Amino acid sequence: MKPQQEKPTTFDNYAGNYAELIKDPIREKFAENSRFFFERKIQVVRRFLQQLRIPLETMDWLDVGCGQGDMLRVGKPFFKSATGCDPSKGMLESCAGLQVRLQESLAKLPFDDAAFDFITAVCVYHHVPHDERPRLTYEILRVLKPGGIFCVIEHNPWNIATRMIVSRTPVDADANLLSPREARRMLSEAGNEVRATRYFLLFPESIYSYLSVIEEALSSVPLGGQYSVFAQKQ
Ligand SMILES: C[S@@+](CC[C@H](N)C(=O)[O-])C[C@H]1O[C@@H](n2cnc3c(N)ncnc32)[C@H](O)[C@@H]1O
Repeated sequence: MKPQQEKPTTFDNYAGNYAELIKDPIREKFAENSRFFFERKIQVVRRFLQQLRIPLETMDWLDVGCGQGDMLRVGKPFFKSATGCDPSKGMLESCAGLQVRLQESLAKLPFDDAAFDFITAVCVYHHVPHDERPRLTYEILRVLKPGGIFCVIEHNPWNIATRMIVSRTPVDADANLLSPREARRMLSEAGNEVRATRYFLLFPESIYSYLSVIEEALSSVPLGGQYSVFAQKQ
């Protein structure tokens, strides 16, 4: 049987002009470029891991569905190692200089059992059909060490601006947003302990530095454009 990646994935069709395809007037008003969105995600991750008193520099990190590697590029300096994987060969072509692997089958991540201390899946689940989400979660848990942390980052369906952007972004044509409640249920049904939910991307880049304390204080209120759910493998 041929490996699945030989059939181009949907994201292979987007990879050539991904940056153009995700352009949106609201997104552009929110931040000058995409980097801000990934810097904020990494800040949220670092803050959570620091609260658990886990030194990031001791952690092997995997970013599942890493796409063009934006999250890895921003987060890499903080971790012992940073690795990505994605089923789209086209998306991975933009990952020069990063440690990435092609995920040849949607059913299997290309890593050994318990290989990582920390795993992220950023804006991946809303592209995965409902009935395939548990399988992806179990597969992620297979490659996570016992006691390791899995962080799902997704669009917040309660944020109107987010919904508007998703509704008109071509790469989100297949998007089926995952609510924070569904994410928590999915993670606990797979045998994780859900440790925290944080909402972020409330204030745009131009005022964020003045209002970061307020954004942090409101991180448990479902206002921000995205959210993260952190779970610990039991
Ligand atoms: C919207 S992109 C996000 C990429 C990256 N995480 C980011 O935040 O820029 C979604 C990515 O998920 C990948 N993806 C889709 N279905 C997947 C699956 N079942 N398992 C792993 N990755 C998947 C796609 O190939 C694509 O690169």
